[in-house]
Amino acid sequence: MTPFRSMRLPEAFRITLSAPDDFEGWRDAARRMIRADVPPDRITWESPADQSADLFTQGDRRLPAPPADAPQPRTSRDFLQLAQSVILHSDSTRFSLLYRMLWRLQSRPRLMEDKADADVRTMEDLARNVRRDIHKMRAFVRFRVIESEAGDHYVAWFEPDHHILRANAGFFVRRFTTMHWSILTPRGTLHWDGEVLQEGPPATRADAPSGDPVEALWRKYYASTFNPARLKIGAMLKEMPRRYWKNMPETALIPELIAGAQAREAQMVKAGEQDFGQQPQSLAAVAGAILACRRCEIGCNGTRAVMGEGPQGAALMIVGEQPGDTEEAQGRPFVGPAGQLLRAHLQHAGIGMGQAYVTNAVKHFKFVPRGKHRLHQNPTAKEIDICRWWLDGERALVRPRLVLALGASAARSLLGKTVSVQKVRGEPQVLADGSELWITTHPSYLLRLEDQSRAEEEAKFANDLRKVSTRLSELSGRISTEG
Ligand code: URA
Repeated sequence: MTPFRSMRLPEAFRITLSAPDDFEGWRDAARRMIRADVPPDRITWESPADQSADLFTQGDRRLPAPPADAPQPRTSRDFLQLAQSVILHSDSTRFSLLYRMLWRLQSRPRLMEDKADADVRTMEDLARNVRRDIHKMRAFVRFRVIESEAGDHYVAWFEPDHHILRANAGFFVRRFTTMHWSILTPRGTLHWDGEVLQEGPPATRADAPSGDPVEALWRKYYASTFNPARLKIGAMLKEMPRRYWKNMPETALIPELIAGAQAREAQMVKAGEQDFGQQPQSLAAVAGAILACRRCEIGCNGTRAVMGEGPQGAALMIVGEQPGDTEEAQGRPFVGPAGQLLRAHLQHAGIGMGQAYVTNAVKHFKFVPRGKHRLHQNPTAKEIDICRWWLDGERALVRPRLVLALGASAARSLLGKTVSVQKVRGEPQVLADGSELWITTHPSYLLRLEDQSRAEEEAKFANDLRKVSTRLSELSGRISTEG
C-alpha cells in the first residue's frame, strides 16, 4: 500500500482591519500579501463588527514577511480610485473582492478596462451604491436644534446603508462650519464644535431629539416650495425613497400636499409669483433656511450658502451678486478680491463698513470647475428671481433706508426686472417699502478692466459711492430730527 502523502496548502491568514472603511489598512495589508505571493483564497478579511461598526477597534495584523527582493505590486489609478468607494460598501465580501482584483491585476494590468469582467462589474455596482448613499446623506440629513446655555446645538439622526459617515464628514463641516452639530448614526457619530471634528461610537435613534422649531420651519418651507405643477410621484419616490421619510419632517406633509396639489396649482397660476410661505422671523432663521434651500440648481451644487452680515437696523444695505470662491470657503460675503476693492472705495467715500449690512442677491456660489479652480458663473434671471425670497426676507428684517445694488444681478433682484446699470446708475429709485435704491457697477467688473478703462470706471464708481455717502448723511440727519 502506498503511504498517504498529505498535500500542503499554503498557510491561511485572517486579516482584521481597524475599521470598516479602513482603506489604508486594507491597501497596506494587500500589498504585503501580494508581495508574499499569498493567493486570494488563503486570506479571510474582516473588519470589526462590520454590521454596526465600532470605529475605534484596532485590527490584528500578523502578516507574512515578503521576500526582500519581491517587486512592488502593480496597480492602476482606476482601480485605486474605485476601490476607495468600494471599501465603504457594507457587503462583507468587499475586501476579498478587492484583493482578488489586485491579485489578477498583477498578470492583467489592463483588467479594469474589461467592462464585461464579473469582478470589475461588481466593483462598479458597489461603488455606485456607495455614491448614491453619500448623495442621499447629503440631501436628507435634517438637523433638530437643542437649545442650551452654551448655545444652539444641531443634532441629526441618519441611517446610512454603507460606511460613508467618515467619507461625508468634510462635506458637512464645510457646509455647516459655523454651526455646532452632531450627526448620529447606527454606524458611528460625528460631532463638530465649530473648530474640531470628533468621531464617536454608534448611536440609536432614541439619542436624537425629535421635533422642534427648526423642524416646523422645514415643514412650512417644504410645503411652500412643493411645486404641484411638477408633481411626479414616481420621480419623487426615486429621489426621496420612502425609507428616509421617517427622519424628514417635511415628508409628513406629502400625502396632504399630493391631495391638495391641483388646487394649489390653480392658485399658483393665478398668482404668477414665488411664494415660499411665511417669511422667516429673524436673520438667524434666514441663515438656517438658506443652508437648506434647494429651490434652484445652485442650491443643489454642494456649496454652502453665504448669509449677509452686518447690524440689523443698518441704514445702508449693500447687495452684491453671489458669493465667490473665497466667500464660499469662508462663509462670509465680500471677503475676496472684489470685497477688498469695495471696502477700499467705501472707506474713501466715508462709508464705514460697520454701518452697512452686506449681502447678495443669490446665496450660493455658481461656478464651473476648471482643474483645481472654480470659475464664477453668472446666475440666470430665474435663479435670481427664486433667491429674491431670501433677500426680501433680509430687507424686511434689516429695514435699510438706502439699498446699494452692485451690478445687474443685484439690480434685477431688487427691481424684479433687468435694467442697464450704465443707464440707471447714480440716480435713486424708490422701492415699494419706501427705501431708496441706488445702482452702480460691481467691483468684480472693475477688476476685469485694464489700464485706462479701469481708471475711468473706478472714477465713476467712486463718484456713485460719494453720492450714496452724501445721501446717507442726509437720511441719517432726517432720522435723528424725525426721532
Ligand atoms: N461678489 C459678490 O457679488 N458678492 C460677494 O460676496 C463676493 C463677490
